[in-house]
Amino acid sequence: MNTLLAICVLVGLSLALADYRRRNRHDVLTYREECVKELDLPADLVEKFKKLEYPNETQTQCYFQCVFSKWELFNNQTGFNVDNIHQQLVNHPTDNNEAFQGNLAGCVDQNEQGSSACEWAYRGATCLLRENLAEIQKSLAPKVWDEAVLT
Ligand SMILES: *[C@@H]1O[C@H](CO)[C@@H](O)[C@H](O)[C@H]1NC(C)=O
Ligand SMILES: *[C@@H]1O[C@H](CO)[C@@H](O)[C@H](O)[C@H]1NC(C)=O
Repeated sequence: MNTLLAICVLVGLSLALADYRRRNRHDVLTYREECVKELDLPADLVEKFKKLEYPNETQTQCYFQCVFSKWELFNNQTGFNVDNIHQQLVNHPTDNNEAFQGNLAGCVDQNEQGSSACEWAYRGATCLLRENLAEIQKSLAPKVWDEAVLT
């Protein structure tokens, strides 16, 4: 009985978390390509992005708005999706949930100052990159599991 209950709880939990698909490096490179095209960004700016340089100007701001929207981490109306960011960065999002979400909260805001969607996305995304770069890169690395499922 207890085992059955435990299984039900586990299945329920994975269903609740299953609505976000963790993205890999390939996904994010695709978003980058699409956004560079959609926003018609100059090649020298894209070269800066590859070196993790993100000048604070409208084109860069809208680039983050575009990539993070495709990634389901940002939405023009509701802002950053802390749950999805958390699931992207942590393998077992149920572990230590509150502490980690507290850390993320330091980088995302409700746009009290009323900036444009692009500026809002840029502000949060550059903060996340600054504070969580290692976790972001790790979460995008190809995984044996992904290869097995996708091939
Ligand atoms: C979100 O905002 C950006 C920048 O203002 C705009 O280009 C884009 O069309 C908006 N997207 C949606 C779904 O409203
Ligand atoms: C970007 O520049 C604007 C205008 O100078 C400034 O108000 C804003 O704080 C800057 N954003 C970031 C994330 O540095």
